Amino acid sequence: NTIFVLNGPNLNLLGLREPDIYGSDTLDDIAGMLEDRGRELGLTIDMRQTNHEGMLVDWLHEAQAEGAKAVLLNAAAYTHTSIALLDAIRAITTPVIEVHLSDPSTREEFRHKSYVGMAAKQCVQGLGAKGYVVALDAAALL
Ligand code: DQA
Repeated sequence: NTIFVLNGPNLNLLGLREPDIYGSDTLDDIAGMLEDRGRELGLTIDMRQTNHEGMLVDWLHEAQAEGAKAVLLNAAAYTHTSIALLDAIRAITTPVIEVHLSDPSTREEFRHKSYVGMAAKQCVQGLGAKGYVVALDAAALL
């Protein structure tokens, strides 16, 4: 009963990076929140971060191969550019839930399009770090 939590570019700098937009919690803080909630739900959290697009593609394939229950995916800027991620999500049967700390729909025009959203089952955005926990609760219902 494993949930893959995949984080894309620049999210390693969370907490330091534009805290007015993304908040002061680090990715490790979020991992801790997810592990606490995961324990209550009986779910194991596999939390990862990469700055490389193809690594996210490989990890989506791995989620399927490992029989993960779901993937929470914050593809960060690749959300808005990556047909490869769209195709990878379509290529697997593992359900993917899109997550964003901010609400991209209220920001620059170039953040309004989401390739991830074209294939993801659900989207949680604009709730900051807590959105990851909301997305985990949603994954538990799948
Ligand atoms: C983000 C939103 C993206 O538009 C941006 O490129 C990010 C983070 C978010 O979590 O709010 O890097 O995915």
